[in-house]
Amino acid sequence: MLTLKSPAKVNLFLRVVGRRADGYHNLASLFQVISLFDVIHFVLNDFDSLTCTDPTIPTDASNLICKAVKLFRQKVGINFGLRVHLEKNIPHQAGLGGGSSNAATTLWALNELLGHPATIDDLLHWSAELGSDVPFFFSHGTAYCTGRGEIVRPLQPPPQKLFWVVKPDFGLSTPHVFQQLQFDKLLQRDPERSLAECLSGNLSLFNDLEEPAFALSPELELMKKELLGSGFSSVVMTGSGSAFMCFGEGKIIPSETTKRFFEVNFVNREVGSWYNPTKTLSQ
Ligand code: C5P
Repeated sequence: MLTLKSPAKVNLFLRVVGRRADGYHNLASLFQVISLFDVIHFVLNDFDSLTCTDPTIPTDASNLICKAVKLFRQKVGINFGLRVHLEKNIPHQAGLGGGSSNAATTLWALNELLGHPATIDDLLHWSAELGSDVPFFFSHGTAYCTGRGEIVRPLQPPPQKLFWVVKPDFGLSTPHVFQQLQFDKLLQRDPERSLAECLSGNLSLFNDLEEPAFALSPELELMKKELLGSGFSSVVMTGSGSAFMCFGEGKIIPSETTKRFFEVNFVNREVGSWYNPTKTLSQ
């Protein structure tokens, strides 16, 4: 059996730079892996199966883990079955990349279990077929991602930060959030400048998808105001929401809508190994 941690990500900043003919949007975003993990157990087997601790997660062919198994089989041309058990901790529909991370972790696991028929670069490129956020996880945990998210420029991690991730009791659908986007209302920030600021430790946090998410869900905007009011210096949504990153000295007051929150830091993997929580960078 191979057991791996499957980490969440945040988007420290996210600019939407254009609409594409294929229905996607071009982005410029600083992605960072954080210390919030699912745990996945993998065993080679005669047939495929997937079980999960969370009964609300579909375990049929629509799950990105099943899609990753199928993709790997097609690409390497090896016949195998895989038994997978997923311990789910990362909230879904949160902008934390949980499903994408599970898919990337599955590709990594299969490559280990089957004697490395693929390079990490192969895995990164193949994984773009599974979703825009999957290739990022084959960086070392910090990357500037462009295109629809699948063009990954690996970077040195920014200086370490301890912060909170707060997930409301409702999620948001990524396509629905993108559909609400109004380009003429976006601030024309230069993402390369934001990148330079973040890497120097002066986190330049923003998310062009916040306004469309607030249009879909006004409670989310209220929640941001409450979190700012409770002392955090910066509160910004990650990905297409609905979770927020909260930086600074604030206090989270648990409520009906703020039931799930996690104190996290940045995580980077070492060359040749997958993400390992015991190897987080020191504070
Ligand atoms: O690539 P992924 O399957 O994660 O994308 C889900 C949906 O999110 C897409 O169908 C599209 O509606 C939206 N999306 C987008 N632009 C991106 C990424 C996602 O419009 N860069």
